[in-house]
Amino acid sequence: MALYGVIGDPIAHSMSPLMHNSAFKENGIDAEYVKFHVKKEQLPEAILGIKALGIKGVNVTVPHKEQVMPLLDEIDPLAEAIGAVNTIVNDNGKLIGYNTDGLGFVEGLKKLAGDSIKNKSILIIGAGGAAKAIYYTLASSGVGRIDVTNRTPDRAEKMMETCPFALQSVFLTLDDAENVLQEYDVIIQTTSIGMYPHIDQSPLKIGRLKQGSIVSDIIYNPLETALLKQAKQKGALTQNGLDMFVFQGALSFEKWTGIFPAHSIMKNIVLQQLGGQHVNR
Ligand code: ATR
Repeated sequence: MALYGVIGDPIAHSMSPLMHNSAFKENGIDAEYVKFHVKKEQLPEAILGIKALGIKGVNVTVPHKEQVMPLLDEIDPLAEAIGAVNTIVNDNGKLIGYNTDGLGFVEGLKKLAGDSIKNKSILIIGAGGAAKAIYYTLASSGVGRIDVTNRTPDRAEKMMETCPFALQSVFLTLDDAENVLQEYDVIIQTTSIGMYPHIDQSPLKIGRLKQGSIVSDIIYNPLETALLKQAKQKGALTQNGLDMFVFQGALSFEKWTGIFPAHSIMKNIVLQQLGGQHVNR
């Protein structure tokens, strides 16, 4: 039996084992995916342990996505640019780091926007780790223009300036973004605002939302944030963070096994586990 897992701190509520084990079963692969609670100070030993124990693949989550990088043998160029790794492949003793977070998001967005996202006007709300993964991945896949709004301008400007992929990008304050919202076809919400238990909060007012636009929020707890609820009421096409979560997992699974697992099976099992509008975690 092959062993896979996820390392993080905290890790108790991770839904990755459920998702990956269902995909292993579905595809007839003799493997088990488990949670490893790894504290910061034990990260180097944990990574050595992957090799020593012959663990085939590992997901990396908060707070280790950046610190794990110098401990690996090779880093994929996109993960290098993003500055974070969420997937490790153990290739016969060589540990290779990838980032599937942004790619998972893009895969999910394609379900709504089709392949035409390259020509859409896109606004990202936020400039943290998730925003960076999405911004860089969209840029690396040929999207030519992405604007960014964030509470802290410096953080957004740094993210934009250090992007190694060519694109046009303008920073807007949250107030400015509210005023020109009608200019965007796709709005991507990457901050933690609206996440359980602060479910009534929203990062910006969407009075000027463009008719027929897409609003995608990376939060999946609750499944419908206040922002998504308002956007839906205004006729937007909305998406919660479940697709991103499932697709980043599916892409890790593909790196490990060569098989891209069925999105619907993984998504359903996570939905079952979430069991409603929001969960206390
Ligand atoms: P992650 O790595 O998960 O994306 P993060 O690095 O903490 O998380 O980034 C969180 C994002 O949410 C940032 O864009 C942050 O804005 P700042 O750069 O101004 O800190 C945003 N954010 C979090 N809480 C916020 C709040 N109460 N109001 C406005 N923005 C908030």
